[in-house]
Amino acid sequence: MCGIVAYTGDQPAKGILIEGLKRLEYRGYDSSGIFIANGAPYLARAVGKVAELEHQVWNSAPEGVAGIAHTRWATHGKPSVLNAHPHGDCTGKLFLVHNGIIENYLLLKKRLLEAGHQFKSETDTEVLTHLVEAHYAGDLQAAVQKALLQVQGTFGIAVMHISQPHTVVVARRGSPIILGIGEKASLAASDASALAQHTDQVVFLEDNEMASLTPGKFSITTLDNRSVSRGTTNLDWNIESMDCGSFPHYMLKEIFEQPESVENALRGRVNHSEAVAKLGGLESVQERLLNARHLIIVSCGTSYYAGLYGRYVFETLTDLTVETELASEFRYRKLNLRQGTVVLAISQSGETADTLAALREAKRKGALVLGLVNVVGSTIARETHAGIYSHAGIEVGVASTKSFTSQLTILTLMALLIGRSRDLSYEEGHEIIRALELVPDQIREILKQAGKIRDLAEKYCHSDHFFFVGRKFQYPIALEGALKLKEIAYIHSEGYAAGEMKHGPIALIDPKFPTLALALEDGSYERVVSNMQEIRAREGKIIAITTEGNTKLGNLVDDVVYIPRTHEAVAPLLTVVPLQLFAYYCGVLLGRDVDKPRNLAKSVTVE
Ligand code: AGP
Ligand code: GLU
Repeated sequence: MCGIVAYTGDQPAKGILIEGLKRLEYRGYDSSGIFIANGAPYLARAVGKVAELEHQVWNSAPEGVAGIAHTRWATHGKPSVLNAHPHGDCTGKLFLVHNGIIENYLLLKKRLLEAGHQFKSETDTEVLTHLVEAHYAGDLQAAVQKALLQVQGTFGIAVMHISQPHTVVVARRGSPIILGIGEKASLAASDASALAQHTDQVVFLEDNEMASLTPGKFSITTLDNRSVSRGTTNLDWNIESMDCGSFPHYMLKEIFEQPESVENALRGRVNHSEAVAKLGGLESVQERLLNARHLIIVSCGTSYYAGLYGRYVFETLTDLTVETELASEFRYRKLNLRQGTVVLAISQSGETADTLAALREAKRKGALVLGLVNVVGSTIARETHAGIYSHAGIEVGVASTKSFTSQLTILTLMALLIGRSRDLSYEEGHEIIRALELVPDQIREILKQAGKIRDLAEKYCHSDHFFFVGRKFQYPIALEGALKLKEIAYIHSEGYAAGEMKHGPIALIDPKFPTLALALEDGSYERVVSNMQEIRAREGKIIAITTEGNTKLGNLVDDVVYIPRTHEAVAPLLTVVPLQLFAYYCGVLLGRDVDKPRNLAKSVTVE
C-alpha cells in the first residue's frame, strides 16, 4: 500500500522525492503529494499517477533541500486532492504523510474537533496531523511520540515542521519504514527501491520505533522513549535491474528473467553427492525442522498458490502432513499447533499484513515459524525464527511472476531437504535435482513461443469469462493462471480442479466461455482428458497446455501449447510461464496498465 519518501540533505529535494515516488508507484496509488520545507512551505497534491504531480511540481516547487512525499492507496475517503497526503495542521506549519489505518481515528477526531481543530479531509490520516499539532511545543520528535502513544492501528509516517526545516521524523507500526543514510543526506522510504539510487547503507526500523533524521545523521528511539542503537545494513541492489531495459513493461521483463531467477534460487543450495538441499537460512533450526510432523503454510494471493503447490510437493517427497491456509483466514481457524508443527509464511514483499498477522499468531502459540521471502530485510523476514530468501531480485510489476517460480523452486528444495532425511531415496532425490536444474533452459525454450502465445491472446482476449483447470500439481497453477488473467487483463476467470467441473461449473460452458486445460502426460492425464471431453461435449472451446510430443489431443482442443517433458512435481515451474504470457498479452491488447493494474498494490500492508 502506498509509498512514502522523505529526504533531508544538501540537494534540491523535489527531484529526489518525485523519482522516489515513481520507484514506489508499483506499491499502489490513486493520488500523490509532496511537501518541501524550506523558505515558504510548499505543498502540492494530485489525483492519478505520479506524473500528474510531477507536471504540477516541476516549474513551481522551490529548491528546498528537505521534504516528504507520498503515493496514496485510499482506505478512508475517496481519491481526491483534499484526501491526498501530505496533510497539514491548523497552523499550516506541520505536514505529515501516512501509510496504514488509524483504527481509533473517529474517537480521536471527535476530541480534536471539540478542542477546536479544523479538518479538511475525510481521511483517518489527518487525525494524526492534528494530534501531533496538539502536542507540539517546539520539539517535533516529542510531539510525534506523544501523539502516537494515543493511536491504535497501523502506521508508517513521515512528519515535518517548518520551524525545523532540516528535520524529518519517521515512525512505524505495521507498515514498513527504511532509513537511507548518506554522507550529507538522510532519507526514509516505504521500501528500499526508493533509496537504492542514493545510498547502499540502510537501517530497518522495527515496529513501535521512531527516528529523527537530519542531513547524514539519524537517531532511533522506541515510542516509549528508549534509545535504540542500530547500525546500517549494506543494500546490494544494482540500479540497472530496476529499469525496464529493452522490454516495454516490467512484467514482461520479469517473466523473461525467470531462467536467471530460478538459477539464482538454486545457486549454492544443492549437494549433488548426497542428493540433498543445502538451505543455509534454515541451519539454525534444522534439527527442529527435520523432526517436524506437521506443516502449515500461510500466505496470500499468488504466494498462497505457491503454498498449495507446496502441499503437493511436501506430501510427495516427505511424510509430513501439510495444511495450507489463506493468511487472512488463519486467525479464525482453531488450528492445533501441536508439538512438531512448523508454520511457513510465504511472501514476495515480506510486508503483507495478513501474512504478518498470521505468523505472529503462530509464534504466540509456540510453533516454529519460517519465512520464504523475496525482499531482504523485510518485516516477515525479520520476524520469523528462520527462513530462506527467494533471490528473485527486485520485482516491480504488481503481478508476481518470477517471485512465484522462485517460491516453487525453494519449496521443492525444502521438501527435498526433509524428504532425504526420511525415506526419500538417493535416486529419487537426484531425479528431482536433475529436473530442477533443467528448468532454466526449459523456460528459455517456452519463452521462444511468446509470439504464438500472443496470437492466442489476440484470439481469446475479448472473451468475457475463462476457466483454468488442472489436477494435482497443476491445480494450483490453474488457480494462478486465473488470478493473472483477472488482475492483468481484468477478464473474469476462475481456476478449478479439473475433476470439479462436473460438480457445477460446467453449467456455464458454452462456445463463448473458453477453458484453458493443463493436460500434461502425467499420472492425471487420462482423467484431465475426460474432463476436457465433458467440456467439449458442451461446445466449450479449449486451449491445452500439454507435453511436447503428445499428438493424442487431436480435435479435442482448439489450440495447444507444448512444454518440455519433466518430473511431474517440477512441471508447474514450466506450465505457469505460458499462463503468465497469456495474461500479459491479453492485458496489453486490451490496453491495460499491466505493470500497475487498477485497484491493486504490490505490497498489501493493510488487513
Ligand atoms: C499476485 O500477482 C498479486 N500481486 C498478489 O496476489 C500477491 O501475490 C499477494 O498480495 C501476496 O503478496 P506477497 O507475496 O508480497 O505476500
Ligand atoms: N489510511 C490512509 C488514507 O486512506 C492511508 C492509506 C495508504 O496507506 O495509502 O489516506
